[in-house]
Amino acid sequence: MKTWDFVIIGGGAIGLSLAWRLRHSGAAVLVVEKGEPSREATHAAGGMIAHCDPHNPPELAGMITASACMYPDFIRELREDAFESPDLRDTGTIAFLEESESPTCAGVRPLDETELTPLEPGLKLRGRTFFLPESSVDPRKLGSALEKAARNRGVDFSTGSGVQEIATLGGRAAGVRTAKSFYAAGAVVNCAGAWAAQIKPFGVPTRPVKGQMLCLIPAAKAPHTGPLIRHVVRTPEVYIIPRSDGRIVLGATLEEAGFDKRVDPETVQRLHKAAAAAAPELEHLRIHEAWAGLRPGSPDNLPILGATPMPGYYAATGHYRDGILLAPITALLMTQLLTGQKPKLDLAPFSPKRFE
Ligand code: GLY
Repeated sequence: MKTWDFVIIGGGAIGLSLAWRLRHSGAAVLVVEKGEPSREATHAAGGMIAHCDPHNPPELAGMITASACMYPDFIRELREDAFESPDLRDTGTIAFLEESESPTCAGVRPLDETELTPLEPGLKLRGRTFFLPESSVDPRKLGSALEKAARNRGVDFSTGSGVQEIATLGGRAAGVRTAKSFYAAGAVVNCAGAWAAQIKPFGVPTRPVKGQMLCLIPAAKAPHTGPLIRHVVRTPEVYIIPRSDGRIVLGATLEEAGFDKRVDPETVQRLHKAAAAAAPELEHLRIHEAWAGLRPGSPDNLPILGATPMPGYYAATGHYRDGILLAPITALLMTQLLTGQKPKLDLAPFSPKRFE
């Protein structure tokens, strides 16, 4: 019977990044995904590498800064292994902030009217405005590249049947069971996002936090005039994320609605109106797609990383609003932990045992 060093439960951006990194360290890795890889929160995400956002939890500052710094090399290595690229854009973010909010990362600068207009001519909103040196990726392309990179490197996949339980031997995790099969492993890592709590005999306490989003494209007959918006734009009501292929993604709601991925047309219209209030030309763009995704929130909305009380059973999930941003550092720190090295950042504040 084949045995893997690590079985990763969940093939989203976190599970795939970790599987890919573990494989680089020489480990035999299997990803068990209930559906298709990266079709849930990763597929739904906006993809802002928002390391300068003053709303980021202070407890995550070290991980966020480290992960944002890692992104260019992470994408370069991904391109080498996957032969495709996830549209990393480093044009920066224009953020409209409240009086009480001050971004502190290096390279932030306030923008006055004379600077804002040439930087983003389509933006008519005015207020307390900052340029933030942030980047963005297309999470759908990131997910696809991570899966290809992992497969090309020799990670195995089992898709279409979810993990029902962790198999144990002498109290230690020894593999996983799906409806189809049993997969033996030296250790198991729960990266199942919003579904992480459903793994038996005990899950990891995440909950789904719904986000509705939409994507705009130019109307078919519109003359080609170049991109309407070049930067990521964040206002208190909406964020606007341009992609290199001309799509403009708008987000997002934050809803405690259980496992409900329905899209509400009024909510979509409200997001579209909020974006058009900031950049009036967006009103004339066509809604190409609207969707909802389920972020994995945890009881304190911080990630859950490290050993669970069951020997051989680990968690890397609960990244809430920052799964794409934190994928590179999570993969690095968890690989260090799982391969017997000291993680370069302290994982103790994120231990699964803090909820006991
Ligand atoms: N990371 C953006 C969001 O959660 O909406």
